[in-house]
Amino acid sequence: MKKTQIITTVYEYDSIDELSKEDQALVNQAKDAAHRSYAPYSKFNVGAALLLENGEMVQGNNQENSAYPSGLCAERVAVFYANAKYPDVPVKAIAITSRTNGSFLETPVPPCGSCRQVLLETEDRYNQPIKVILCGENKIRIVESIKQLLPLFFDKEMLNE
Ligand code: THU
Repeated sequence: MKKTQIITTVYEYDSIDELSKEDQALVNQAKDAAHRSYAPYSKFNVGAALLLENGEMVQGNNQENSAYPSGLCAERVAVFYANAKYPDVPVKAIAITSRTNGSFLETPVPPCGSCRQVLLETEDRYNQPIKVILCGENKIRIVESIKQLLPLFFDKEMLNE
């Protein structure tokens, strides 16, 4: 038996002012998107914004449904919208923010497992890492690839073995 440790590198910031201007702009787009989320059941409004290789920013937010599983998370709405509109343009970064009870959460909310898997597919699709910016009011966490949040991942390489 051998014990192996998997190390994840996370960059933490105490304020949005510490981020680059480009990252700040992306966070602001994600916050803007959160205000338009459709979340009448959870009342948990998530906003996401992608930075594409062509410089364009694409927004997404969670879209809920009375048949709960029919809804979709903000991250996947943003990624699928970007992929549908610009199938040949790589995704460089995603910012994610969440609101509830009328204010943004203090702690950064990480993406759910399904959204991590979709972001991983998007990294593979364009063969480049996606920077993930998790933005809370009191702390911001950044990882340089979704793989940092999804160790031992399943991807297309498994299908070819
Ligand atoms: N949600 C997201 O939009 N992204 C996540 O990564 C986690 C959860 C949404 C789904 C649902 O509309 C609400 O938050 C509560 O789970």
